[in-house]
Amino acid sequence: MTELTTLPTITVLGAGYVGLTTAALLANAGYKVFAIEPNSERLKVIKSGQSFFYEDGLDVIIKTAIDNGSLVATNSYEQSIPHSSVVFSCVGTPDNPDGSSNLAYVYSAAEEAATLMKPGTRYVQKSTVPVGTGREIEALFQKSNLAVHYVSNPEFLREGTAVYDTLFFDRVVAGGDNAESVDHILAIYKRLEQHRHSIAQLGTVDTSERKGQYIATSLNSAELIKVTANAFLALKISFSNSIAKLADAVDADIVEVMDAVGADERIGRPFLNAGRGYGGGCFPKDVSGLIASGLSNGVDLEIMQAAQLVNKSMPGYILEKLRENLPKGLKGARVAVLGLAFKAGTSDTRRSPGVALANTLARLGATVTAFDPIANEEACRDLLKGVSLADSAQQALNTADVIIIATEWPEFIDQKPRYYEEFSRARVIVDAVNRLNKHSYISAGFQYIGVGR
Ligand code: UDX
Repeated sequence: MTELTTLPTITVLGAGYVGLTTAALLANAGYKVFAIEPNSERLKVIKSGQSFFYEDGLDVIIKTAIDNGSLVATNSYEQSIPHSSVVFSCVGTPDNPDGSSNLAYVYSAAEEAATLMKPGTRYVQKSTVPVGTGREIEALFQKSNLAVHYVSNPEFLREGTAVYDTLFFDRVVAGGDNAESVDHILAIYKRLEQHRHSIAQLGTVDTSERKGQYIATSLNSAELIKVTANAFLALKISFSNSIAKLADAVDADIVEVMDAVGADERIGRPFLNAGRGYGGGCFPKDVSGLIASGLSNGVDLEIMQAAQLVNKSMPGYILEKLRENLPKGLKGARVAVLGLAFKAGTSDTRRSPGVALANTLARLGATVTAFDPIANEEACRDLLKGVSLADSAQQALNTADVIIIATEWPEFIDQKPRYYEEFSRARVIVDAVNRLNKHSYISAGFQYIGVGR
């Protein structure tokens, strides 16, 4: 990879989880970065040097770059694109009702940028798009007679550890027809890698070393790599959940099973945690997007359809286990749902299993009080009226007969049974994340309900 002799000015289109993290980190590595955010409320927050979502370490990194002028937040394409030689597209790709990816923002961002990019600009796609999208955007640029190089540069960061994942990556992938542009994009990350310790320290995030790889591929391979990686992780989770159902039926413990299965290096322990299934802004939509993309190319990805079915079944499966264990059933049961974020470390409640559990319980006639240390506000949008929100875990526990741990926040899973005894009379605890020490709860007199345990 060639070293950068002059540093490019960069525009990042879309300042969401991926765009804002990327923009703030690149700005701290010495690049001049414009971050375009059309939503005026969000733009105001970013300009004040903060993020509009919770992400560990990110705020101070944004503030540093805003204060020293290396990061400029704007809603203006005119102010940024003509001055940039690299444009990263990080706009949202929600899913259509049929599960396919909605590329409206991807195309409108490319069309608007096309009117302003100067020849030789490198247009880099970070949004997750189905294979073939890059070729269509290239055609769009060609129609406008634009000499722009298109590079696919899929994003692998996880919410909650976005800063660490971007700085200490397993791999950076860039794919495109123009080898020099692919190399240039990889070199931009190389500089970020050279500055990673000082940036991580600024955000006080983890600095555990990882030896990342730089991988140059063809355009279509790069596009397929991203969705394949997420689909495989989703597959691991659904596989574990399927085996968890069998473990329940044969009185085995899925945690013991997967600890031993995952000790085989060929398999690996990560993403074998059974529980309430995957949620969030990526896995559910990437899996349905991959299925739709397969179908539109004449390929039936049955294995992903099965993964999706298993995932959708998990909240219902857990509530059915609970119902079987309650003499009077779910109707009228007073339930505390602890955790509404789709996983710990984030305020994101998109497709959150905790929200699904709370809403389904309310529909079935239970009295539900829910609490999340960070995601209460965001969860409001999706919670049914029948679900009350508590201001603290204690308040949610106060009136409960049943406790459900739906997100693995340390303040829920690191407690001893004594904590739940003190704040609640409930003696039934549903561990929907399989993270409690089941023996200590059983010894303390709780009825412990896990998933495959
Ligand atoms: C994911 C990918 O990990 C990341 O590489 C990609 O860029 C975006 O999508 P994210 O959605 O932030 O990241 O969360 P992740 O940590 O992967 O978890 C996804 C979901 O799977 C969560 O709901 C999590 O609770 C669940 N999960 C994860 C399990 O149910 N079991 C596991 O073993 C691991």
